[in-house]
Amino acid sequence: MFDKGMQMKKTLGEDKVYDFSLGNPDVEPPVELKSAVIDMLTRETAGMHKYMENNGYQNVREEIAGYLKNHYNLPFTDKHVFMTVGCAGGINILFKSMLNRGDEVIVPNPFFWEFKNYIENYNGVMKLVETNDDFQLNIEKIEEAISEKTKIILINSPNNPTGVIYSRESLEELASLLYKKRREGKEIYLVADEAYKKIVFDDAVLPNIFDIYDLVISITSHSKDLALPGERIGYITISPLMKNSEKLIDAAIFANRILGFINAPAIMQRVIGKFQKNSVDIKDYQKKRDAIYSILVDAGFEVVKPEGAFYIFPKSPIKDDIQFVSNLQKHRVLAVPGIGFGKPGYFRIAYCVEMDMIERSRPFFKEVMNTTR
Ligand SMILES: Cc1ncc(COP(=O)(O)O)c(C=O)c1O
Repeated sequence: MFDKGMQMKKTLGEDKVYDFSLGNPDVEPPVELKSAVIDMLTRETAGMHKYMENNGYQNVREEIAGYLKNHYNLPFTDKHVFMTVGCAGGINILFKSMLNRGDEVIVPNPFFWEFKNYIENYNGVMKLVETNDDFQLNIEKIEEAISEKTKIILINSPNNPTGVIYSRESLEELASLLYKKRREGKEIYLVADEAYKKIVFDDAVLPNIFDIYDLVISITSHSKDLALPGERIGYITISPLMKNSEKLIDAAIFANRILGFINAPAIMQRVIGKFQKNSVDIKDYQKKRDAIYSILVDAGFEVVKPEGAFYIFPKSPIKDDIQFVSNLQKHRVLAVPGIGFGKPGYFRIAYCVEMDMIERSRPFFKEVMNTTR
């Protein structure tokens, strides 16, 4: 899609292609963050570009733990925070630390396709579990999928590709199920990809997962909330309620080395500690969500209104989503077929693009709907 988009833009002109294919934020990082980088580099001190502890600078981890302690009202300390090369680096370190050959990871469907690759990198087995029609968790189906080999349930909320936030009620139900499994002798970890945790709209609240279950590890990214995807910075947070977490932290330190990351980028670590309460303008994404949602509904698409992230996942008007995406392409609109997220019959639009492009795309969604049905 990326290549196709580049090609079409070259031949037709940038403004003639409506590229909704990539989750690459169109906005710039906050100006204060850029100033903080400049300021830090002008006050350069000896040794600031050296290797540091594999889990990151202690003062940065302390700073983030302080924020987490206030935010979640739980006793986080620096040892519960692990600086990573983005969320992707964090998930890979965790899976390398946690998975043995054949261990199963349950993933609610639709899902971010890279999860499959990350799980299989460490000889794990991904087990997909369908969500409900509104893309909320189906706990019965998760229960059916749990086996002797289940090690992890991997959730992503706000979700890529649906923009759905898993409800507190469903997460509490999931926790009850996991506690029941523990009483039966089976310990299962809940790993939460929270790359979009600050991108939530209206009055929606992302449930505090640490408050719901104890064997929780969350992964944060600043690729989206601070618009820094190329700078590769994020962190793992381990629940302070998890017993014996030292063993996991030691494993993650070793995994960070042997996977070749060594440590998260030093300059970004030093900067983002102070930006835990900041984000790009979320209202701007909300306006874009409103605009694309109204365009799709007006054109006659069936779609769940996203509560967060910057994706929307409408139903394809024909069964064959690949064919439908190719019809969209003929109208110069680029999207990704649902099959790329485990869910044929749908397609994903990434609306982290300029508002003007969203508005100009309106007639094309109408046209493609009229010519497809
Ligand atoms: C659900 C999800 N997790 C992880 C990532 C990767 O994030 P990072 O850039 O922090 O590695 C993405 C990127 O699009 C994503 O959508």
